[in-house]
Amino acid sequence: MRVLLTGASGFIGSALTRCLSLSGHTVFPLTRGGRQPGSAWWNPESGAIDLAPVCPLDAIVHLAGESIAAGRWTAERKAHIRSSRTLGTALIAQAAAALSPKPTVLISASAVGFYGNAGDQPVTEDSPAGHGFLSDVCREWESAAEPARAAGMRVVHPRIGMVLSREGGALARLLPVFRYGLGGVLGDGRQLMSWVSRDDLTAILSFALQESALVGPVNCVAPQAVTNRDFTLALGRVLRRPTVATVPAFALRLLLGDMANALLLTGARVVPARLQACGYRFQHPALEPALRAMLG
Ligand SMILES: NC(=O)c1ccc[n+]([C@@H]2O[C@H](COP(=O)([O-])OP(=O)(O)OC[C@H]3O[C@@H](n4cnc5c(N)ncnc54)[C@H](OP(=O)(O)O)[C@@H]3O)[C@@H](O)[C@H]2O)c1
Repeated sequence: MRVLLTGASGFIGSALTRCLSLSGHTVFPLTRGGRQPGSAWWNPESGAIDLAPVCPLDAIVHLAGESIAAGRWTAERKAHIRSSRTLGTALIAQAAAALSPKPTVLISASAVGFYGNAGDQPVTEDSPAGHGFLSDVCREWESAAEPARAAGMRVVHPRIGMVLSREGGALARLLPVFRYGLGGVLGDGRQLMSWVSRDDLTAILSFALQESALVGPVNCVAPQAVTNRDFTLALGRVLRRPTVATVPAFALRLLLGDMANALLLTGARVVPARLQACGYRFQHPALEPALRAMLG
C-alpha cells in the first residue's frame, strides 16, 4: 500500500515507518518541516497542505500532535495540545476526502484518555467518554475526522494506551529513576495503567490498515491493565532494583498541576474488545514478560 504518515518523526511514527516498510508498504511522511520538492507537506496551524507529490494514496495514518507529557499544562500548552489535534485532523480529513481517487482508510490516532478516570470498572469501545481536559480533547480529535467519514472512507481511531519501549515514551523516562533505586509507587498506587508494547502497537496499526472489519474506535492496549503499584513492582523486579520510595499525590500535584491527576494519578481498565473480536494476537499480553523482553 502507499501510506501517508503524519508524526513519522515521532516515537510511534518512526517505529511504524520501519514496520510498514518491512511489510512491503511504501511510506510517505507528511511533515511540517521545510518544503522539499517531491515530498508532501503541511502546516496544520495555517491550514496549508500539499499531497499532490505522493498521490495516489491507499491509506493515511495520522499520529501528529503536540506532545501531551512534555511539560506542565499551562493554558498555552493546553491550547496547543488541543488545536494541533483538532486542526491537524480536520485538515487531513478534508484533504483526503477531496482526493480522487480517495484513500480507502484513514487511521487517526486517539488515546485511552478518552475514558477519563473510569475507576476499576472495565471499559470497552462502547463505554462513554469521561470528563476533563484529556477526554474533551480525545472526543474533539475523533470528531474532527468527520469529513473523511462523510466521504465514505473507513475511519479507525486507535485509542492508544501508554506505549512501552526502552527507546522512548514513558518507560524510557522512568528507567534512569528506577535504575538509581528511586522508583516507587505514585500516590496510593491503585490507579490503573492501560499499556501496550510499541511492537504490538505498530503491528495493530499495520493490521488495521488491511482489516476492513475495524471501523471507529479501537482500544490499543494489552488485555491486562495493571495498577501503578503492580507496574512499579514488576519494573523493579525486571531491573533488580528496590522500589521502596513512594511519591505522594500532593507532591505530584504541586510539581505538575492538572497533568499529575490526568496522567499519573487516575486511569482506566481499558479492554481491547474490538481487537480481540477480530482475532488480533498480542505479542506482549502481560506486563512483566513484556518488560523482560524489552529490557532483558
Ligand atoms: N506515546 C504514547 O504513549 C501515546 C499514548 C497515547 C496516545 N499517543 C498519541 O499518539 C500520537 C503519536 O505519539 P508519539 O509518542 O509518537 O508522539 P511524539 O514522539 O511526540 O511525536 C509526535 C509527532 O507529531 C508531530 N507534531 C508535534 N507537535 C506538533 C504540532 N504542534 N502540530 C502538528 N504536528 C506536531 C511531530 O511530527 P513532525 O515534526 O514531523 O511534523 C512529531 O513527530 C500522538 O498524537 C499521541 O498523543 C501516544
